Amino acid sequence: MRPMTEPTRDIRRRRKVEHVEWAGRLPDAGGGGLDDLLLVADALPEVDWDACRTDTTLFGRPLRLPLIIGAMTGGAPEVSALNRALAEAAAATGVAMAVGSQTSALRDPALRATYSVVRETHPDGVVLANVGADASPAEARAAVEMLRADALVVHLNAAQELFMAEGERRFSGGAARIAAMVAAAGVPVVAKEVGCGIAGGTARRLVRAGVAAVDVAGRGGTDFIAVERARRGATGPTPFVAWGVPTASALLETLHAVGDAARVIASGGVRSGLDAARCLAAGASAVAVAGPLLRAVRRGGAAAAVEEIARFAEELRTAMVLCGARDLDALAGVPLVVGGRTRAWLRQRGVPTAPYARRAGPNA
Ligand SMILES: Cc1cc2nc3c(=O)[nH]c(=O)nc-3n(C[C@H](O)[C@H](O)[C@H](O)COP(=O)(O)O)c2cc1C
Repeated sequence: MRPMTEPTRDIRRRRKVEHVEWAGRLPDAGGGGLDDLLLVADALPEVDWDACRTDTTLFGRPLRLPLIIGAMTGGAPEVSALNRALAEAAAATGVAMAVGSQTSALRDPALRATYSVVRETHPDGVVLANVGADASPAEARAAVEMLRADALVVHLNAAQELFMAEGERRFSGGAARIAAMVAAAGVPVVAKEVGCGIAGGTARRLVRAGVAAVDVAGRGGTDFIAVERARRGATGPTPFVAWGVPTASALLETLHAVGDAARVIASGGVRSGLDAARCLAAGASAVAVAGPLLRAVRRGGAAAAVEEIARFAEELRTAMVLCGARDLDALAGVPLVVGGRTRAWLRQRGVPTAPYARRAGPNA
């Protein structure tokens, strides 16, 4: 492993704290298109509220809700308490939790505790490790071992890096590095963006590299171009305000591109249990939520994040009952009409939407 110089380590720590500060304050990007995914309601639902089940499995492990607390933090003493609170909320609600990029702790062992606190707090839960696409196979393996993680997330963030003053400028060779990490990780590998989305062709290349799942992390939620511009004090306009693949389009493209070859996780502006129901009906295996849970913890600690997740669970169950779906398998058969800009996007991209709209529905 490369030794870390003092200044690089300090920059990484400061960056993590600044990301939390700015992401906590800036508005969502918007335009994710999840409102374009219209669930077809069933006025005669053959399912009782109490019998409706939202449990599932992810990487062979049980979850009470198909929800992952998205990758955010660790790597600075100041954010350790955030990871602990998020993990407390994950443990209390039976959801999965991902940590933020572990690069800093791989290069400075003093920071390991800011990540391993998640496994200590959520000992039996589904925990996801996280590295960048520049990590070596040995680093990928070490990140998993640090958390006894159930899966490894490799984040793709070219747009974020280009808007970061100190960001990476070399991106070639990423697919080969991911394939090497898949071989070394010892757990399933998930490839994800950080809010600019993954298109179908990219998803297919990731599956060829061996990933078990793709988390589309599309445009619509946390806006890392805005976060990086805020960090460097950029106040002028940028033509990149709406950069990226909107979440709804990224999700349907990726599902179409990968078929049964990988699981697909929906994230990027998933803001309610209804948003989650839309994504799960489309075929996502789970959804991930980051920014709102960060803001909840900063507002009211783990209890506020638990409340947010409880609201989310209630909204998901409401949508399921109103579509006549007694469990998540049934939800994946609910008819879905695709409208608006998402429909226009998918039509031009050759992704068929009629099969969703013509589903018979769970109670046919
Ligand atoms: C403060 C903060 C830090 C983040 N750090 C990471 C990271 O280290 N690794 C990563 O894969 N994603 C990171 N993300 C991106 C999220 O995992 C997620 O993909 C993105 O925020 C979109 O989801 P959202 O709209 O629900 O926030 C971070 C997000 C936030 C808000």
